[in-house]
Amino acid sequence: MKPKYDVVILGAGAAGLMCAARAGRGGASVLVLDHARAPGEKIRISGGGRCNFTNIHASPANFISSNRHFAKSALARYTPRDFLNLVEKHRISWHEKTLGQLFCDNSAKDIIQMLLHEMQVGRAQLKLQQTITSVEKTESGFRIALDQGTVECRSLVVATGGKSIPKMGATGFAYRLAEQFGHRIVETRPGLVPLTLDPALLEGLATLAGVAVEAEVSHAKTAFREALLFTHRGISGPAILQISSYWREGDAISLKLRPDLALLEQLKAARQSGGKQAVQTVLSDMLPRRLAAYLVEAGSFAGPMAEQNDRRLQAIADSVQNWTIRPAGSEGYRTAEVTVGGVDTKELDSRTMQSNLVNGLYFIGECVDVTGWLGGYNFQWAWASGHASGESI
Ligand code: FDA
Repeated sequence: MKPKYDVVILGAGAAGLMCAARAGRGGASVLVLDHARAPGEKIRISGGGRCNFTNIHASPANFISSNRHFAKSALARYTPRDFLNLVEKHRISWHEKTLGQLFCDNSAKDIIQMLLHEMQVGRAQLKLQQTITSVEKTESGFRIALDQGTVECRSLVVATGGKSIPKMGATGFAYRLAEQFGHRIVETRPGLVPLTLDPALLEGLATLAGVAVEAEVSHAKTAFREALLFTHRGISGPAILQISSYWREGDAISLKLRPDLALLEQLKAARQSGGKQAVQTVLSDMLPRRLAAYLVEAGSFAGPMAEQNDRRLQAIADSVQNWTIRPAGSEGYRTAEVTVGGVDTKELDSRTMQSNLVNGLYFIGECVDVTGWLGGYNFQWAWASGHASGESI
């Protein structure tokens, strides 16, 4: 007799563990299967080991999807406050870092332990190092063939994540399974990822590797104001990671460095009050020294402020606040924090995450075409979609 469960969840990541805990608490018999050696590996490494587990400002506006209404229901029914209540119930101390981002004081492992404990309360089982060889529909549910046997279940939840960081076991398995059951996939691409530059451009910027500066980075109508970092391969930092999820190959992005400054006015004032000062000295008061030196060299702005006419001051201001860069590419799934795109939400029920095509089949977490900004939003989606499915099973 094959073991039969109310629900089998494929993937013991953030979404799968949350779903298991919720479904188990509701009385369902639950089995979670994962090919990894340990559950929640991405939780463990997230937020520099402290897990940016949610964002108190999370709202549907912080998510990218080809169906922008889809995430609303799940996000409204399981909020950052709900997750925080769970964290506090487990006496995990936390702090807000910046922009509503909440982190563990101690370790991301606390969040994994919390979810495993919640699963135990609901008697949900976890089997690791399982290779899933096939999944098929049966009359009463699903049959999952593993390299060591077969399991059957009434409902099947796919929570195997996206393609980011293959080294950690990301496989794209969810997309193949979705297609097997007739679901469409919204084209996937790496998100929250550093962007690379052409070798020629990179050579010119070589002296800037390691320099960070506050910037407003924009692509079409989307803009983020956070730190930008020049690297040996291109550009990174939170502002670039954010815009990378919107950027498409071939597109240009705009950079406005030190967007908080009325730069032209400040340059005119500097010319008026201390005309003997060199342009580089004045720029070094506003920008990292290496960046100021690069801009002066690249724009041939050397010389005292007194010698700069209005047209040249405008050119200096533009060189700081009006860059257009066309990245050559991105660092790809190797370093991307998330996968943009995924299982098309038009064929999923937004309240339960259940497939509209196959009864009893669910997709949750990163494999769905809902992608959060940087800053705890992706975990909030994993918790909310996991909870929505777990509640409805
Ligand atoms: P997740 O990837 O967590 O889990 C999928 C599970 O399925 C894994 O356990 C995997 O082993 C398993 N699996 C995959 N294929 C399988 C197969 N074929 N058979 C069996 N099992 C399989 N987000 C955030 O909000 N705050 C943060 O601080 C960070 N930080 C961060 C850092 C880094 C380095 C990365 C890469 C990502 C983040 N993220 C983040 C994003 C966040 O980690 C991500 O969005 C969630 O983990 C997605 O949760 P899921 O449960 O959907 O997938």
